[in-house]
Amino acid sequence: MAASPRAFVLRHTRLRAVPGMEGIRLHLADDLLPVWRALQVETDDPEAALPYWAAAWGGGLAISRHLAEHPEIVAGRRVYDLASGSGLCAIAAAQAGAAQVEAVDIDRFAAAAIALNARANGCRVDVTRRDALGDPPPDVNVLLAGDCWYEADLAARVLPWLRAAQAEGIEVLVGDPGRAYLPTDALIELAAYDVRTTSDVEDLAFRTARVYRLAEMATGAP
Ligand SMILES: C[S@@+](CC[C@H](N)C(=O)[O-])C[C@H]1O[C@@H](n2cnc3c(N)ncnc32)[C@H](O)[C@@H]1O
Repeated sequence: MAASPRAFVLRHTRLRAVPGMEGIRLHLADDLLPVWRALQVETDDPEAALPYWAAAWGGGLAISRHLAEHPEIVAGRRVYDLASGSGLCAIAAAQAGAAQVEAVDIDRFAAAAIALNARANGCRVDVTRRDALGDPPPDVNVLLAGDCWYEADLAARVLPWLRAAQAEGIEVLVGDPGRAYLPTDALIELAAYDVRTTSDVEDLAFRTARVYRLAEMATGAP
């Protein structure tokens, strides 16, 4: 019988400090591709998604660094971490003093990893597994979107959803290391960080990753 997602995460990762954010420890894979293969076998699904939850990605690393430097962005506020993966941004928000943190990811293995990681860091994070972009924007003050621009289909859905959230008064922070589908015209850079991702599937382990806010939409724009 297939193991639970929680058991799978524990078996295929190692709890270790995040490079550049040593105050956070995550269950991370030493090598992502063998874990991906194991996941395909475990789920009997050759199309299983890459185990994004087993790495700390550039976008999430930039947001986490930014929140550590500027805790006032989230302190005492309700925070939503879209496409949370390992839960890195959610945990950084909790450590920076957020009043409430919800982490959402479409992947059930991510949901298990986020719960384990929050616990390992002594943080309270509410975890939800769903397609966040199918819902209206959540009732929160701050929305974090770390490394969401790596696929065309996802990228096309994220920007309108983030804009809808911003139109409701939610402060949106995007973190990205220069992915192909990043809509730079729609973003305003706030900060840049040299980060080291833990993902061995990246062409560059060391990258500059940036934190952005959404530009205001011009009146009459679609
Ligand atoms: C590259 S990872 C980024 C994880 C984390 N934010 C970070 O920066 O380390 C992208 C994540 O988006 C999740 N995802 C993709 N589509 C989603 C959707 N529609 N709703 C929620 N999560 C989604 C994936 O499962 C994956 O965990």
